Amino acid sequence: MMHLEYYNPTRLVFGAGALESLGERARAYGNKALLVIGKGSVKRTGAFDRAVASLEKEGVEVVELSGVEPNPRFTTVLKGAETAKKHGCDMVVALGGGSVMDASKVIAATVRYEGDPSEMLMRADRPPRLPRAALPIITVPTLAATGSETNCGAVITLDTGEEPLKTFVIAEALYPRLAIADPTLTLSVPPDHTAYGVADILAHVTEGYFNGVDGTPIQDGFAETVIRTVLEWGPRAVAHGDDLEARTQLQWASIVALNGWVQTGVHAPYPVHQIEHTLSGIYDVPHGAGLAVLNPAWMRFAAKYNPDRFVQFAQRIFGVSMEGRDKREVAMEGIYRFEEFLRSIGCPTRLSELGIGEVDEKDFSHWAEKTLEVVRDEEGRLPGRPPLSKEDIVEILASAR
Ligand code: NZQ
Ligand code: ZN
Repeated sequence: MMHLEYYNPTRLVFGAGALESLGERARAYGNKALLVIGKGSVKRTGAFDRAVASLEKEGVEVVELSGVEPNPRFTTVLKGAETAKKHGCDMVVALGGGSVMDASKVIAATVRYEGDPSEMLMRADRPPRLPRAALPIITVPTLAATGSETNCGAVITLDTGEEPLKTFVIAEALYPRLAIADPTLTLSVPPDHTAYGVADILAHVTEGYFNGVDGTPIQDGFAETVIRTVLEWGPRAVAHGDDLEARTQLQWASIVALNGWVQTGVHAPYPVHQIEHTLSGIYDVPHGAGLAVLNPAWMRFAAKYNPDRFVQFAQRIFGVSMEGRDKREVAMEGIYRFEEFLRSIGCPTRLSELGIGEVDEKDFSHWAEKTLEVVRDEEGRLPGRPPLSKEDIVEILASAR
């Protein structure tokens, strides 16, 4: 029987023009904001100036922290927390994509953390010491993808060891107090990153759909609606970046995909994400591009163990007919159609298209080990449906070559 607990305290203000209300709403949380941005897109688009103007108009002082890199690094977070402390910031405003939002969350928690903040990050060999408090966080997403704006997760690359390890923290203290999602801010996202965002949104719901428990028809329906919406509007946003309606539908889908509604009661691990994080941690590829490669490869592997779910997916999403065919064929056609969709919007679907050079079994084995360094069950496998041994992960990676 179904059991669930649901909690999401983030206030969401969504719609074209919402950015103008930033200052007025932020005032409730403090007087001095650390305004975190990435490598410059928000300066080029003017979003930065508008955010600063809105904050300052309402008497909120701004301390700028720029330069957060895609796949944000732990050392960047530490620098950000130092800046926030030095200037006495009493809130953190994230203006950017998932990387900026994730870095901002961990900066906000680091300011209030006692001890070594790397201990809040997940590693399979010890329980994380989760942050219990953080400066108030306000997210202003500029890219429809991660859903980080209204969830309590952050993905950070630990860059203090010999090789980067991309890991994460999920903690209640990281829920933003406020998310201001203004789709006009996403109009400037180039076609490639728009497409990677589409692949990410889709993966957020397919992971729950295929790895979750049975008997959750409402969540199935949520997930299917998110997928259908993204299949309809995603290609339009890729092809016509200035189509505000497409941007709006895509951004709302990105939020719904990972704000907890689709996940609640499903209790699904996210194995494709775990494997992908290893890739983007080492090679710095965009997360969504890595997912576009790995998700269909994982699906082909998992469909052997759980064909009914994949048949449901093929039928309900792509209208694949069962006539004259067995379950396996139908399941595989659904996966093929999914992969073709990703390819049609310009996503890579093979490791060889990621620009990471020649890779072989030795690399796959190393990536599998690193993935299991972050999360593994008592039998040393990556949780999922089915749980994946190191050899299974290698097989999936090899099939994506
Ligand atoms: O750095 P700037 O100059 O801002 O440029 C960024 C970056 O180069 C650019 N960009 C963002 N908004 C733009 C824009 N360019 C033009 N116009 C705009 N409006 O896009 C590039 C990618 O940005 P990034 O923030 O890295 O992308 P995304 O939003 O996909 O975030 C990816 C990160 O989030 C993590 C990923 O692992 C990755 O590190 N994730 C976070 C999750 C969460 N917290 O819930 C869940 C996800 O599954 C994911 O793992
Ligand atoms: Zn993702």
